[in-house]
Amino acid sequence: MLGDSIPIVELREIIKQVAPTDVTVLITGESGSGKEVVANEIHKLSKRSEKPFITVNCGAIPEGIIESELFGHVKGSFTGATENRKGYFEAANGGTIFLDEIGELPMQTQVKFLRVIENGEYMKVGGNKTEKVDVRIIAATNKNLEQLIQNNSFREDLYYRLRSINITIPPLRERKSDIKLLFESFISQFTKRNSIEFKGITPEAMDFIGNYNWPGNVRQLKNFTESLITLNSDKVIDLDDVMRQLSIPKSEILPATVNGYNKQDERQLLFGALFELKKDIMDIKHQLSHMEEAKSAAVPENGFYVSDDKIDNISFDEFEQELLTYYYNKYNGNINRIADKLKISNRTLYRKFKQYGLKNGKYNL
Ligand SMILES: Nc1ncnc2c1ncn2[C@@H]1O[C@H](COP(=O)(O)OP(=O)(O)OP(=O)(O)O)[C@@H](O)[C@H]1O
Ligand SMILES: [Mg+2]
Repeated sequence: MLGDSIPIVELREIIKQVAPTDVTVLITGESGSGKEVVANEIHKLSKRSEKPFITVNCGAIPEGIIESELFGHVKGSFTGATENRKGYFEAANGGTIFLDEIGELPMQTQVKFLRVIENGEYMKVGGNKTEKVDVRIIAATNKNLEQLIQNNSFREDLYYRLRSINITIPPLRERKSDIKLLFESFISQFTKRNSIEFKGITPEAMDFIGNYNWPGNVRQLKNFTESLITLNSDKVIDLDDVMRQLSIPKSEILPATVNGYNKQDERQLLFGALFELKKDIMDIKHQLSHMEEAKSAAVPENGFYVSDDKIDNISFDEFEQELLTYYYNKYNGNINRIADKLKISNRTLYRKFKQYGLKNGKYNL
């Protein structure tokens, strides 16, 4: 786990204290902030480090089979249960189970958790005897569980049992001093792995990266770094390359880039930016003059557009795929936002992403 900002140094200290114990830990933090990294770190520093660390993505398992996945089932307990099956808890025995996206757990499964957290006891689906495991539980969520409790979709008693210790990972924008370190480490990992040479980066490009807000946190920075290096492997990376990669229009960068330069540079930068601004205004004017034409093409404001001849021939699946791809691109594959938008569960969305070959979490913005 990289970082030397104060919050990360403190976090490391807390991890060191909780790791050797068996206490249940709830990790909260925005998407991409490093919850899984912290869970791994706790396991690695615990006396269970030689035993399994099992990650369960509670949002990705279909509701109908979640209990059998977690607790296992007995042969013959339901149609299709042709063998006895070990659940994740049994598989994690002696080690740590990491329940990711715990907020996605269905209410009726939550009840069973109370018992297994309390004393390691549970029953297999279709079983009639109590099983016992020795498992350390770490849970994570980027949802506000208190809010879910208000909406009656998360049990309050489970919440209090999970959060014996609550570790909150601050978003990357609140620990900007870590950005450079992370960026450099991602470059060195990526260039080594792919035998690419890194030719360097200009100071203003580095400055911009270090001051950017990174709404998708460390995951976004990592994905960004990898694309940036791949697409600019033959040159020193400059501010234009960075902004292109982040899809930021040039006129937005002015205040961030003038810090830390002498007057001469500052003036040059300002003139440069003004010149760009003028170009942009001319572009906008040009675009405006074409607006009427564009309107007649009937592209709606949201940009989601299926042409008339297509709509006559499109199947429901194709239409659904089109819509999902549109939101996928718009929200950079962020499951939570897209599910919210489409008012469907994360689980259903995972399934559909899979169906249409969309990879979860391109970056989570
Ligand atoms: N402090 C860190 N040092 C090095 N790499 C990190 C750090 N924090 C996060 N990462 C990297 O960033 C990416 C995202 O981290 P992680 O999967 O732990 O985030 P998350 O909080 O679990 O996100 P989500 O809520 O979307 O599941 C991973 O590739 C991880 O290796
Ligand atoms: Mg995660």
